Amino acid sequence: MRIDIFTLFPGMFEGPLTESMMKRAQEMGAFSLHLHNIRDYTTDTHNTADEPPYGGGGGMIMKPEPVIAAIEDVLPAERDFPVILLSPQGRVLTQAVAQELAQAERLAMVCGHYEGVDERVRQLVINDEISIGDYVLTGGELAAMVIVDAVVRLLPAVLGDPDAPAKDSHATGLLEHPHYTRPPEFRGLAVPDVLISGHRAKIEKWRREESLRRTWRRRPDLLLTAELSKEDSLFLFTLAEEDIERKRAEMDARIAGSDVG
Ligand code: ADE
Repeated sequence: MRIDIFTLFPGMFEGPLTESMMKRAQEMGAFSLHLHNIRDYTTDTHNTADEPPYGGGGGMIMKPEPVIAAIEDVLPAERDFPVILLSPQGRVLTQAVAQELAQAERLAMVCGHYEGVDERVRQLVINDEISIGDYVLTGGELAAMVIVDAVVRLLPAVLGDPDAPAKDSHATGLLEHPHYTRPPEFRGLAVPDVLISGHRAKIEKWRREESLRRTWRRRPDLLLTAELSKEDSLFLFTLAEEDIERKRAEMDARIAGSDVG
């Protein structure tokens, strides 16, 4: 996969994309990263990349000419691959979006900065717009790095275990179960017996139930779209019953406490 990133701050990419898995993935040829400084495409003596907005209001807007010039210089005229603007107004990045992008042979990303980019950039060269969450960053660079990381780890050449992404949190529609490694006991906390038992079927059952429990407690919204078996639904009912029981006990304790008071 080839990834082109258009940014006013190419230095920000040092580190996150030059260490660890991203470094190895580039060394093994799974993807190549090409950073392009938008400021190199300015034409005035001050290298102006931004201007105040027409109509007033605060902040600065990225000018269209340097962004468009950079894209037209680097990308082919026929852009039949995602050319993504990073912005808080885009569709929200999910594991499904990362999977979709990982199918492409090529990606381009444009990092917005300041208050945003001139709307004509969207109209002329952008064919996808992605946000990494409902919060506002100072620019699209960190968002671009998040997307590169989430996408690159899914590339076939990068995956150690080809089944691994299918087990990721979110890929199954559920959060992952807890993990343990040696030692079997640490500061009084023991690894659950079932994991040490070596009994495959029981381990799988435990993992599925813990995955459901974690999702139920932390992200119940995910259960609305997750694929659930009849056993899963029955287990979720027992969790719901446990919660009701706990609430009832809490309320009883509170009532008993106020009686005493
Ligand atoms: N730029 C500023 N905030 C952003 C966000 N949440 N996602 C992507 N790009 C952004």
